[in-house]
Order: sequence, then structure tokens, then C-alpha cells
Amino acid sequence: MRADSKIARDLANLLRARFAYVYITTWEEERAMETIRHIATSPELIRTPRKVYQWSQVTGFVDPDGKVVHETRRPLSAISFIRRCEEDALFVLKDFHVYFGVDHRPADFEVIRAMRDALPDIKYSESMKNVIILSPRTVVPEDMQKEISLFEFPLPDEAEIAEALADMVAENSGLRDELGPEGHARLARAALGLTLQEAENAFARAIVSRGCLDEESMRVIFEEKNQVIKKTGILEFVSSDLDADDIGGLENLKAWLAKRNNAWSPEASRYNVPAPKGVLVTGVPGCGKSLTAKAMSSMWGLPLLKLDLGKIFSGLVGSSEENMRRALSTAEAVAPSILWVDEIEKGLGGMGGPSGDSGTSQRVFATFLTWMQEKEAPVFVIATANNIAGLPPELLRKGRFDEIFFVDLPTRGERRQIFQVHLAKRMRGDYIGSQLTLDDGLLDHLADRTEGFVGAEIEQVVVSGLYEAFFARRPLRLSDLDYAIDSTVPLSVTQSETIVELRRWANVRAVAATKREDLQAYATDPAGGDGGDGGDVRSSRGGRSLDF
Ligand SMILES: Nc1ncnc2c1ncn2[C@@H]1O[C@H](COP(=O)(O)OP(=O)(O)O)[C@@H](O)[C@H]1O
Ligand SMILES: [Mg+2]
Repeated sequence: MRADSKIARDLANLLRARFAYVYITTWEEERAMETIRHIATSPELIRTPRKVYQWSQVTGFVDPDGKVVHETRRPLSAISFIRRCEEDALFVLKDFHVYFGVDHRPADFEVIRAMRDALPDIKYSESMKNVIILSPRTVVPEDMQKEISLFEFPLPDEAEIAEALADMVAENSGLRDELGPEGHARLARAALGLTLQEAENAFARAIVSRGCLDEESMRVIFEEKNQVIKKTGILEFVSSDLDADDIGGLENLKAWLAKRNNAWSPEASRYNVPAPKGVLVTGVPGCGKSLTAKAMSSMWGLPLLKLDLGKIFSGLVGSSEENMRRALSTAEAVAPSILWVDEIEKGLGGMGGPSGDSGTSQRVFATFLTWMQEKEAPVFVIATANNIAGLPPELLRKGRFDEIFFVDLPTRGERRQIFQVHLAKRMRGDYIGSQLTLDDGLLDHLADRTEGFVGAEIEQVVVSGLYEAFFARRPLRLSDLDYAIDSTVPLSVTQSETIVELRRWANVRAVAATKREDLQAYATDPAGGDGGDGGDVRSSRGGRSLDF
């Protein structure tokens, strides 16, 4: 633990300001204890050094020399020991939250009362005393919200992880180390997002499996990190080759994102632009919302983490709030990063509804909203939503997302581009070849014939066409694509009402993801009336178009 660490300074400040009860939520009990001990003995941090007493249900209080303080195992006796003590001291209570009501255990009001009564004895005593509650989850009794200060214990930063790595290398003197200082720094960066213990485990695994530290170790660390992060059940790293060029159309959205690339660079700070918070992309299913999110990693060259809100609320994973906290702090630890919340409405669908524990949902959601509002770490949030009906208004309020985009059915120009993307992608490599040339004539023809098709359906047309050709063991023909088009009933026909509804919503709240010229071209789209009865769907396009 470095003396200048921000965590140590922040925590020391709370203690110096004589906050009586400080609640630290962390999985890293050992690391937190180390920080606390470090603070307690560093006059430059805390002025009056203090003894550290640790309490657990098993031992009661134990003093810094490891001596047990008798008759302090019961929580009430522990509190009265704190009151009586005349030393300058920090009292660390482990797992005290169980008395605040968790799982099916009710709150112990005697303990809570005793804590409240003890407050003046702690705060105003001659000796410098503070109580630190250390727990893997945050449970604060309603009656003590004013008395307890929460302290977020962030995951270790690069310097702390690098220190742990250096220690490990130093302890294993026979180790062949092919990575120089620069390689060590990269290894430490790769482990960002892990707890210190997890990072040490990852390094140990890399060393043991390779018998040395080399370039391959990086891969081991990444694998280990992916495993650890997946274990939370709600977060995963998404690696994808998709790039802006893989998105047909959506020029407005792409341009908006492109302008915010590098927004955390020193150059950007010289323009005094506020750091972007995030974007909400809503719209018709299958039109490229998730695709855009996936492409953002390459577009911005940042790690992309996908947060599965649905799983949080489904109860499939453990304590929802802690999982949410862990997910958010992981995103912060690997910052600058992009956090992708796919189908955000699914996660929020249970809120207030008849199914599930809506109290938990509300709290988890509130945790997320507060974080969005207050976050300072460079984490950009891209949330996608197919169904806007389930979105709570507080999510849409100004200050949450920088912008809300609406992705509509692709215009003719966009359909051309989407065909271009998918035909070009599949007609390469050792592809069998065809009589088709990817030229304007072909793209015009296909775009004209697919009004009302979404991007996913266009992709499907290309795939089905190729299957026709493959089945006949001959190169792809235009007739294969035409046949696939004729066999498709686009979603916009079967769900025209839903789309009209979406547009009505978007009209007042969102910006069109499509470029304005494309929208105008759409209005005069010559290909009308070939897609069934979707006419009313096409006539009114939603979304304010943005001029920038
Ligand atoms: N604008 C587009 N450009 C290129 N491909 C698209 C586009 N929209 C959809 N697709 C294709 O359809 C698939 C599904 O789209 P997706 O982004 O998952 O839709 P959603 O908007 O429902 O999230 C994509 O993976 C992509 O292959
Ligand atoms: Mg999607």
C-alpha cells in the first residue's frame, strides 16, 4: 500500500474528520485491512496514529498484537468495549452487517440502538476513535443512514497491481523473466479489473503454466480475467472485429460517436468539453443497435464490457446489488472503457411488475442511475433498447444519457449499404465466385426490392441466397437473392403497429440515427407498395433529425 494512494488519503480524511461509523464495502478484506493498518500507523495521513482492533463473531476483539480481548464476542459487549476504550483506536467490525438484517435474518434492533447510543462516546471522546464496518455487501439499517458513512473501496489501480507483480517476481528469484519493465506494466494493465488477490492468482497461474514470464503470459492473464469477470454472472468482455464499416447507414449515430472518440485525451481537455456519459440507442429490432455497440470497441480502441441487466433481475446470480457494484467497479478499473447494456428494457421490465422482487430491482436500478449521474471515471455507456414501453422515465431524464437515438427501418440508401456490407463480406476469401458483380446496378435493384426490410433480414437474404447457390453447387445468381427476398415477410409488415408506436415515442424524445439526406431520400423513395400493407409504417418516420 503506497502512502500516497488516493484510497488511503480519502479514507484517512473521513477518519480524521471523526466520522464515527464508516462502512467499507469490499470483497478484498485483506487489502482493506492492510490499508487501514497503514493509515493507522502513518502520521502523515492521520495525524494521531491509532491502534487497530479487529472484531469478528468468532474471536471478539483482537488487539494489534493478536491478543484476544475477553468478553467481547457478543455484539453488544463489543460496542460497550468501544465506548469504554480510552485509547486512540480504530475498531474494525467484520461482517457486522448481519445484525442489520440480511437474507432472512431480521435486523437486531438492540444492536442498532446500542450503536446509536455509542455515537457521542465515539465522536466526542478525548481519544480519537472510529468504527469501521467491513463487509462484502452494503446493508445499512434505515435508522442509521445518517450515522453511517459509506466508503467505496475501489479495485486496485495499475500501480498497486504492478507492485504485487514485482513482489511476486522478487520472491521467485529463479524465474525466467522475458518481459522487461514495459512488459510488466502491460501485464499489470491486463489485470486491471481484478481484485489484488485475483490478480496475484492470475500471475501465479501464468508463471506456473509457462514456467516463465513471456508474451504468452498476457494471454493467460486475459483468460483468467475473463473467467473472473464472467463469474459475476452479469459482465463479460466482448471482443469483436466489427468496425464502423460493418454498419450500413446510421450515419448520424456513427458521426456522433466519431466526434466523441478520444474525448478523454489531453487534447480534449484543452477544449473543455465535458466527458461524454453515454448514449441510448432505441429502435426497430434487427436494425443494427447491438451491432453498433459491438463495433464501438474497434471504433474507439477501448475494451468493451457487456452488462447483462436481465440476469441481475432474474435472480440467477447472487446478491444483485453487489453484482451491480462489482460490474461498475470493474468497468471503472479498466477505464477508459465502454460499458454496453444490451436490451436495457429487459432488465427493467420486472420493476414494479407482478413478477420478481421489485424492491431489489429498484435498488439495483437506482445504483446504476446514481452511478451514471455521478461517475467521473472515463466509462462510456452505450445502452440499447428494442422496446421503449418498459423504460422508466428517470432513465430518459436529461443528465443521464447525452443523447437518445432512434434507429428506424433502413432507408433505401441504407439498404444499399447493408447489402454492400454483407455481400462484400461473404463474396470474398475462397468463395466460389459468381456471375454477380457488386455494382450500383445490383445494389439499386436489391434496395428497391426490399423496402420495409430490417438489416438482419437483409443479411438473411444474402445468406439464404448463398444457400440456394450452394445447394445447386453453382455460383450465386441474382435469382437466388430475388427468391430469398420473395420468400421473406419482413417484420415491419407483421409488426407495423409496434413500429408506428415506436416512432410516435421517438418523435418527441429521440434523434434519428439516419442522416438527414437519407431521410429525405426516403420520403421520395420510389419503391412503394411492394411490401404488403406496411404503408402507414413507412409514411411517418420517427426521430428528430439532427443537423450537425
Ligand atoms: N445497419 C446494419 N448494417 C449492417 N448489418 C446490419 C445492420 N443492421 C442489422 N444488421 C445485421 O443484422 C444483425 C442483427 O442486428 P442487431 O444489431 O443485433 O439488431 P438490433 O438492432 O436488434 O440490436 C447484425 O449482426 C448484422 O449482421
Ligand atoms: Mg440487439
